[in-house]
Amino acid sequence: MSKPRKKPEELRSHRWYGVKDLRSFGHRSRTAQMGYHRSDYAGKPVVAIINTWSEINPCHTHFRQRADEVKRGVWQAGGFPVEMPAISLSEPFQKPTTMLYRNLLAMETEELLRSYPADGCVLMGGCDKTTPALIMGALSMNLPAIFMPAGPMLRGNWRGDTLGSGSDVWKYWAELRAGNITEGDWGEIEDGIARSPGHCMTMGTASTMTSAAEAMGLTLAGAASIPAADSRHAQMATLTGKRIVEMVWQDVKPREIVTAAAIDNAVTTVLALGGSTNAIVHLIAVARRAGVALDLDRFDALARRTPVLANLRPSGRYLMEDFYYAGGLRALLARLADLLDTGAPTVNGRTLGENIAGAAVFDDDVIRPRARPLVGSDGLAVLRGNLAPDGAVIKPAAMEARLLRHTGRAVVFRSYDDMAARIDDPSLPVDADSVIVLQGAGPQGAPGMPEWGQLPIPKKLLAAGVRDMLRISDARMSGTSYGACVLHVAPESHVGGPLALVRDGDLIELDVAARRIELKVDAAELARRRAAWTAPAERYGRGFGAMYLRHIRQANDGCDFDFLEDGPPTPDPEIH
Ligand code: FES
Repeated sequence: MSKPRKKPEELRSHRWYGVKDLRSFGHRSRTAQMGYHRSDYAGKPVVAIINTWSEINPCHTHFRQRADEVKRGVWQAGGFPVEMPAISLSEPFQKPTTMLYRNLLAMETEELLRSYPADGCVLMGGCDKTTPALIMGALSMNLPAIFMPAGPMLRGNWRGDTLGSGSDVWKYWAELRAGNITEGDWGEIEDGIARSPGHCMTMGTASTMTSAAEAMGLTLAGAASIPAADSRHAQMATLTGKRIVEMVWQDVKPREIVTAAAIDNAVTTVLALGGSTNAIVHLIAVARRAGVALDLDRFDALARRTPVLANLRPSGRYLMEDFYYAGGLRALLARLADLLDTGAPTVNGRTLGENIAGAAVFDDDVIRPRARPLVGSDGLAVLRGNLAPDGAVIKPAAMEARLLRHTGRAVVFRSYDDMAARIDDPSLPVDADSVIVLQGAGPQGAPGMPEWGQLPIPKKLLAAGVRDMLRISDARMSGTSYGACVLHVAPESHVGGPLALVRDGDLIELDVAARRIELKVDAAELARRRAAWTAPAERYGRGFGAMYLRHIRQANDGCDFDFLEDGPPTPDPEIH
């Protein structure tokens, strides 16, 4: 990584600002129009600050201020900051799902960096898909890049009880449907569950992916655990701005950071956190953008040796604010050091091992010692069988143990609407041993592979006290969700995967220890059903949706677009 320090005339931005020609006159005069004197930028690294702030993203409400704090750092270090807004991907509001647009933000990030005079970038993200999308785009462009995580929000509160994003929504929604809390209680929970800026503070996809970004070396040490509302978060933003300027001079590129070792570190971290199943899809896509051949089997192999040490919801008890006070990610990684490649480089110029050296745990119940893990291994498990030839995933740490090995009869729903219409029908032939199956919820089917995978438990079973049952779909599941949910079944039903052939009453067998998911229907009958199967109509005939349907890959391949993952490098633009 030791390269000669760049000279000002070697900066990429020099071609826009530094040369003496007609075009550079335009670039300089238009910069003057914005109120800058040439001494503000001449010979300095131009730092693009990719800001995913918007008024409809509650997780990024502090990003206008944080962008100013990043700029302060860039100015102080002798750079020229340029803030560039990008699509915000607001998890609660964007429909049908932010996953439909992850690759759009990745494309936007890459093309913003390519088409403008950026020498390096600060990536501002945190709400679920924003983190992988920004990193994917930055990896494809491969300019010096540093990630600034949004930070988790503060703990939720209801009548003195702690509330966690998502996890407690699902929990109290079930209690409301079971008649155990009132509409008034539900309204109070609504007002108390999200109390500050920042992303979801359970170990959902946001906390999982920002922690993964730190573990793969793309943030300052300790950055991902700082609550958004903490003054240390603002300090981190400024330090991030300072650091990127030096990274440009040293030409530290993200593909030098995101190596196979760094990806293994990120996967191990996700597993030790009891992180979101969504990380599987995102990390495969991130790794492949970096040229690292990550697949489902690598997740499973690392899961077998990695203990879950973070006692965080939905698998455990605490929230990210508690995790930060207990020492945060650095402390957790210090406890895992023998399972990590501590020689992996990071954006601050030090190795991962140097960054976590001396990090202490201040609460052994939040960050468990190796001798007393929350779960010994298998934070995630990859399943295969005739129902999922290309794989499916489950989160054993967040399900009732009695279902780890289970056989039951299928109750099949053809679509989300079908499920919504019938799931609470008192005459639905379902009991606690049934297996609820949802088809048509995958990358192409839904489309966008929404977080429908935590399929609702029928009301009559909730009233009878059932709180978990085996559920199977080609959807994803919110990282804040829990339960015996088999997810990401590949190939998906929409493209004719075996999930499409399941019928009411079929026996399905799950064996997590053996990593098997089997449809107990003989091959001749399955062949008959396949011959009778017809592909559903596509939902989108034009625009981004049509492009998405043509190019999206399956879940086991990370759901990237084929043309973004493959192909030769794109040349820098000519400046005429
Ligand atoms: Fe943004 Fe959960 S809604 S992270």
